[in-house]
Amino acid sequence: MNAAIRAVVRKALHEGMEVYGINYGYAGLVAGDIRKLTRRDVGDMIQRGGTFLYSARYPQFATEEGQLKGIEQLKRFGIEGLVVIGGDGSYRGAYALTKRGFPCVGIPGTIDNDIAGTDYTIGFDTTINTVLDALDRIRDTATSHVRTFVIEVMGRDAGDIALWTGVASGAEQIIVPEKGFDITEVANNIREGKEKGKKHSIIILAEGVMGGNEFAEKLDAIDNFHVRVTVLGHVQRGGSPTARDRVLASQFGAKAVDVLKEGQGGVCLGINNEKIIVRDIVETLDNMTHTPNMDLFKLNEEISN
Ligand code: F6P
Repeated sequence: MNAAIRAVVRKALHEGMEVYGINYGYAGLVAGDIRKLTRRDVGDMIQRGGTFLYSARYPQFATEEGQLKGIEQLKRFGIEGLVVIGGDGSYRGAYALTKRGFPCVGIPGTIDNDIAGTDYTIGFDTTINTVLDALDRIRDTATSHVRTFVIEVMGRDAGDIALWTGVASGAEQIIVPEKGFDITEVANNIREGKEKGKKHSIIILAEGVMGGNEFAEKLDAIDNFHVRVTVLGHVQRGGSPTARDRVLASQFGAKAVDVLKEGQGGVCLGINNEKIIVRDIVETLDNMTHTPNMDLFKLNEEISN
């Protein structure tokens, strides 16, 4: 997110605009926690994870009162357009403000990659590389001790993180919410792998299916696998962004400024076949859904055993 904020600030200044940063998302907007940003405020930022403007979950922004208060604060600072970085909740806030006559642009930012209207979100690439690093380490110990591991990864209700890291790490099985699973089949696959001489079995479990410990208990109830569980948790949400994420964030940030300069609002950005695209935010929220690349699931079944 820092890389995206940096691009917004630098591009807007380049275009002769003034830029303000809002701390803590919609919560800070309503509270008037707003400050002018300079070129230097975003220096030394592109390589830092997270957001220096902080983030907050703020369901109250769904109310009319919250939205009107937000617009009042924006006007108080002479702000004429808003760039919102986030997922579904952030987009809904941006949509509500646009409907009330305040132009907003949404940039897809979440590690889950679960936003409709874009192939990728900022943060996803960094996360899958972080997870992959952990998986490579776990594989070392799994092989040495000839063990079965269940690794729970984030993603909320989406299986993208599990699918990508499962294929990239050569995991034996991937369990995602978009596809049902049969625990007996999972157990049979582990046994078959052992018979084929596999030294370990690594199962990537998306958190949207169930918790890693619950899944391991189910497996151990079938056979004495002595499953070890690793829940990667919030380690997946930090760290220096990858080159791909930095570039994507920079492209999105600059495009958001272009869009606002052209007087457009109520849109969200995306990347589709390597091109930055602009979509209507209502159309995206109401008519589009996110589907992970399930070809990866099939691919993994074909090459992991
Ligand atoms: O949406 C990003 C995400 O990290 C999800 O993958 C995860 O389910 C959730 O946020 C965790 O939220 P919190 O940090 O509020 O516990």
